[in-house]
Amino acid sequence: MENKNISIGLFGFGCVGQGLYDVLNHSQGLKANIEKICVKDKNKTRKIDAGFFTYDKEEILKRGNHNVVVELIDNADEAFAIVKQAMNNGVSVVTANKKMLAENFRELYEIQTRNKVALIYEGSAGGSIPIIRNLEEYYDNELLSSVKGILNGTCNYILTRMEFENKDYQDVLKDAQSNGFAESDPWLDVAGFDTKFKALLLTVHAFGIVLNPEDIFNTGIQNVSYEDILYAKQRGLRIKMLAVSHKVGDKFRVYTLPHFVSGDSELYNVNYEYNAVEVEGAYSCKQTFVGKGAGSHPTGSAVLSDISALTYDYKYGYKKLKKFISSSGIIPEGKPQIEYDFAIKLYIRYQERERLNDLEIISVEEEYKASGTNYIIANVNFKSLFNIYNKRDNKLFICVI
Ligand SMILES: NC(=O)c1ccc[n+]([C@@H]2O[C@H](COP(=O)([O-])OP(=O)(O)OC[C@H]3O[C@@H](n4cnc5c(N)ncnc54)[C@H](OP(=O)(O)O)[C@@H]3O)[C@@H](O)[C@H]2O)c1
Repeated sequence: MENKNISIGLFGFGCVGQGLYDVLNHSQGLKANIEKICVKDKNKTRKIDAGFFTYDKEEILKRGNHNVVVELIDNADEAFAIVKQAMNNGVSVVTANKKMLAENFRELYEIQTRNKVALIYEGSAGGSIPIIRNLEEYYDNELLSSVKGILNGTCNYILTRMEFENKDYQDVLKDAQSNGFAESDPWLDVAGFDTKFKALLLTVHAFGIVLNPEDIFNTGIQNVSYEDILYAKQRGLRIKMLAVSHKVGDKFRVYTLPHFVSGDSELYNVNYEYNAVEVEGAYSCKQTFVGKGAGSHPTGSAVLSDISALTYDYKYGYKKLKKFISSSGIIPEGKPQIEYDFAIKLYIRYQERERLNDLEIISVEEEYKASGTNYIIANVNFKSLFNIYNKRDNKLFICVI
C-alpha cells in the first residue's frame, strides 16, 4: 500500500482550500490529485476550471471514487455530517476544523476506530506548526509535563499591533477585519473559544485526556484596552493569549487565558499572526515550535502533509489515550483528571467593582483606582472563573500574572 495514489474529494475552496490547491500543484513527488471540489455558493466566480466544482456533497461522498476526503469548510455542523458520512463509507479524512473536532471528539474517535479509517488534522492547531503528529509520535514515550502556546493568530496580531502602534483594541480589530486577519464576527477568536478547541486537541495528543469544550475555561482579549498593554510595557512584559495544559501532581490544569509574558520567555517575541507551542518533558526539557498559525498557504501545507501521510497509511495511534480506554472501547470522561480548585494570580481590570463579586477572591495583593482605570492583582479560586464564563457584558479584562 505504500506510496499509493490519492484521489481527493475536497470540501471547501476558501482560504485553506485554495491554499491546499496551490501547495499541492507545486509539490513534487506526491501522487495526489484533487478531482472534485464541493462548495456552497453557485454565484461565486472561481479561479480554476468550473468542471472541478459541484454543489452536491453526495457527488463526492456517494460515488466512492475518491480514496480521501479533505474537509475544509467553515461550518462545524455541516463539516461533522460530511466527515461522519465519509468515514462510515470507509474513506479516510483530512480536516483542519478544530471546532468540529473539539465538539465531537468522542464520536469521531469511535467512528474512525469502527471503520478502520484515518482521521488526521495537523492544520487544526497551530496552522503550519507540526505539533499534533509530534506529540503523537515523537513524544509518545516522553513524560510530558506541559504543553502551552499562542494558538490564535487573530489575538496575537491584535495584541502585537496594539503594543507596537500604541492603539486601542477597537481600532486594531477594525483594521484586522478589513485586511483579513479577523472574522466579521470575531467572538470565537477574541474570546478564546478557538484557542480552547486547540487546547482540547493538544491535551488529547499530549496526555491522552479527552475533555468536552465546556470543561475548559476560556476568556480572551475581548475587553483588553491600551491601559493593559501599557501596564505590561512599563514592566517589560507582553500580553499573550495562551492555551495551557499542564500536569500538577497527578492532576491536570487546562485553560485558555491571556498571560503577562516576560522577555525571558520564548513566547515574548512571537508576534503578529505567528503561533508558538512550548512542550516540556521530563527528559527532553523545554522545546518551542514557532510558525505561521493560520493563512492560506501555511495551513494548506499542513493539510498537504496529512495527505502525504495517508499515502503510507498513516493514522494517529492515540497511544496515550488508549491507556485510558476500557476493553469496551469507551473513552472515559477526562474531567475527573482536571484540577479546578486552585489559586491563580490574576490582574483584573474592571469598570464596575460589583462585577468582581462573581469571583472567589482569596487575597488581594494590589489595588489601583483612577478615573480612567481600575484594577486589582489578586489570588482567585480558579473554579470561580466559570461564574463569568462567556458573559459578553462583564467588561473584565483578566490576565494571568
Ligand atoms: N483560514 C485559516 O487560516 C485557517 C487556519 C487553520 C484552520 N482553518 C480551518 O479551516 C476550515 C476552512 O477555513 P477557511 O478559512 O478556508 O474558510 P473560508 O475561507 O470561509 O472558506 C470556506 C469554504 O467552505 C465552503 N462551504 C461552506 N459550507 C459548505 C458546505 N456546506 N458544503 C460545501 N462547501 C461549503 C465555502 O463555499 P463557497 O466558496 O461557495 O462560499 C468556502 O469555499 C475551517 O474549519 C477553519 O477553522 C482555517
